[in-house]
Amino acid sequence: MEGRIHIGLIGAGTMGTGIAQVAAQAGHPVLMFDTRPGAVEAALKGLHATLEKLVAKGKFTRAEADALLGRIRPAAALGDLSSCGLTIEAIVENLDIKKKLFTQLEEILGADAILASNTSSLAITAIAAACEHPERVIGLHFFNPAPVMPLVEVVPGLLTAPGLSERCAGLMRAWGKEPVTCKDTPGFIVNRVARPFYGESIRIYEEGIADMASIDQALKSVGGFRMGPFELMDLIGNDINLAVTRSVWEAFFYDPRYKPSLTQQRQVESGRLGRKTNQGYFDYSGSAARTAPEVDPDLAHSITERVLAMLINEAADALFLQVASKEDLDLAMIKGVNYPKGLLAWADEKGAAYWSRKLDALQAEYGEDRYRASPLLRRMARTSAQFHGVK
Ligand code: NAI
Repeated sequence: MEGRIHIGLIGAGTMGTGIAQVAAQAGHPVLMFDTRPGAVEAALKGLHATLEKLVAKGKFTRAEADALLGRIRPAAALGDLSSCGLTIEAIVENLDIKKKLFTQLEEILGADAILASNTSSLAITAIAAACEHPERVIGLHFFNPAPVMPLVEVVPGLLTAPGLSERCAGLMRAWGKEPVTCKDTPGFIVNRVARPFYGESIRIYEEGIADMASIDQALKSVGGFRMGPFELMDLIGNDINLAVTRSVWEAFFYDPRYKPSLTQQRQVESGRLGRKTNQGYFDYSGSAARTAPEVDPDLAHSITERVLAMLINEAADALFLQVASKEDLDLAMIKGVNYPKGLLAWADEKGAAYWSRKLDALQAEYGEDRYRASPLLRRMARTSAQFHGVK
């Protein structure tokens, strides 16, 4: 597997192109296929331009860039992928279309080939169910931009062969990535655990506790987050961010913890989606940089602790439900979304009892299930245990 097997990339959009670059950079011959005429050629042209910039910046030598590009070839038909030992699907996020593709791939690929999906929101088990050999189907969830973000969530489905995740994690390491392994559950690690960063911040805004710019400033200055939640939602696109929230909420059978917010729904309906439309929660039409507001230190502290309590609770509950190991849960948030610390390590600083009390106070005040503390956080609070070691 660690040898230079041929890699097939299906879908030459944002993710497919980024992953193709990563695989080619690791020395693999890569074949790219897309149903949209001209898509692969456009992707290769874009990649060429990116590499030119990287050569100019001294990040690549000309020879390295040329060799990388020389390893990626367009596939005129899906059948051209027959030599691939691993295919990574990065096509449209639609279960029926993905299922159809995977059944077609099974007919083309050799018996030993691995079929991976880069899906963000669909169950790997559901995609694999269409296959005759679901044991060789796995999730390899990269983050955007794939050549820059180190995290890859490796997601075995219910029917994935034992040992395949370790093999894939090994390959991802060989590609210079930081793999984490997680259960086939909605949002995997990052898109699940990060939900309160957005949802609780919007809730704080809706209650009139602070304006958006002040909430952003609080989480950056006190929490050490690189971006505030509102500017980050504007960067991601509120349509995309809302779609992820909605899909996680639905996939958890409408657990109120993940409930989308009306504020974001209206924002999307207004067409002010964020940076890509020059207007989201903030205005991006002018060239002037926004000045950070002065936020009362006590208010900044309260805002940050409320959002952090919800994030820590989410990470603790994911550990409670064995979605991933504590190490992988922390690593995923640092490497996938640039959090300044792992949430469980963060929880340890003040201890589980502190965060459990915060959540209880919120639940008592609002009477909402949204604020229920994870049984694991409560158990640890009772025993004064630490997530990363024993006190
Ligand atoms: P995109 O829209 O940029 O690219 C999708 C490409 O797939 C298009 O070029 C389209 O022509 C092609 N395509 C559609 N149906 C096809 C088919 N049946 N066969 C071959 N090609 C087909 O989409 P993007 O953003 O690259 O996302 C792709 C996948 O990666 C989705 O499953 C998405 O959930 C996932 N993902 C996206 C991330 C992101 O930040 N954009 C991050 C991680 C995962």
